[in-house]
Amino acid sequence: MKRIAVFTSGGDSPGMNACIRAVVRTAIYHGIEVYGIRKGYNGMISGDFYKMESSSVSNTIQKGGTILKSARSKEFMTREGRERAFEQLKKYEIDGLVAIGGNGTFTGASMFSEEFGIPIVGAPGTIDNDLYGTDYTIGYDTAVNTALDAIDKIRDTADSHERVFFVEVMGRDSGYIAMPCAIGGGAEIVMIPETITSIEQVIDTLRNGWERSKTSFIIVIAEGDEEGNATQIAAQVKEALPQMDARVTILGHVQRGGAPTAADRLLASQIGIATVEGLINGKSDVMAGIVNSRLVYTPFKDTINKKKIINQRFVRMVEILSI
Ligand code: F6P
Repeated sequence: MKRIAVFTSGGDSPGMNACIRAVVRTAIYHGIEVYGIRKGYNGMISGDFYKMESSSVSNTIQKGGTILKSARSKEFMTREGRERAFEQLKKYEIDGLVAIGGNGTFTGASMFSEEFGIPIVGAPGTIDNDLYGTDYTIGYDTAVNTALDAIDKIRDTADSHERVFFVEVMGRDSGYIAMPCAIGGGAEIVMIPETITSIEQVIDTLRNGWERSKTSFIIVIAEGDEEGNATQIAAQVKEALPQMDARVTILGHVQRGGAPTAADRLLASQIGIATVEGLINGKSDVMAGIVNSRLVYTPFKDTINKKKIINQRFVRMVEILSI
């Protein structure tokens, strides 16, 4: 392997830069040239490549976002788009790729490596932590801490005004962000796509708490919850409990930014090294991840198709601790 390229794709996540840095420096350490591809698969198609040196990643480990930029590419989902991308890789004589992203990124990577035989190793970069094959994804810890910090602040005002707050956190198909925010933020209820919490249960819990003289409440809702989004859920609850003063806060993209935590920098660095060393050792069509403190390479197809199960004990914890 003489020359590899690295790119970030899909939703950005804090720690992506630490991962890019590790990829670049590991490649150089092993005598391999490394190119950066800007704007994910779109940049691969348009030929937005540049040679990276060790200094290209100086002063980046602590920065949020991604210095390579990111995109969700529609064009790469077409055969024609992938052909054009492959032409660019041939032009730059790239013989291996590191893809940093989530399930959309790996869906594309898996198709691409199957069709064109280009070796690709992935790094799990998403705040959602919804990828099978790693206990944690890069950016997840930071996102949870950002959301938790916001919830602590919301609690102050909820308490002062004796209000119910419906706080929506990210997690398209998963409650991984919502769960630690609910436990760590002392929420009364958590609503996540993996479990069913009906509106009636929410109303009952609030009514019981109210009757026991509780005056403020936090309900954490994952954006992908089956019952609807925070605004819809809050509207139904307000109708049933007009005596309670309710507000909605959608944390949104604030969770995607900011300096990565120590845990995310460490994970990103470990995984960045593992992607390049995986390529050197002939691995392809796999994601590098850490499971039970051990490095593992999981086929892209499994990372996308196998469901990472959320620990059901956490659901019970919220119930016990909010009494
Ligand atoms: O995949 C990460 C994520 O932040 C999800 O939690 C969220 O649903 C989605 O990306 C938002 O994507 P976009 O930034 O494209 O609106």
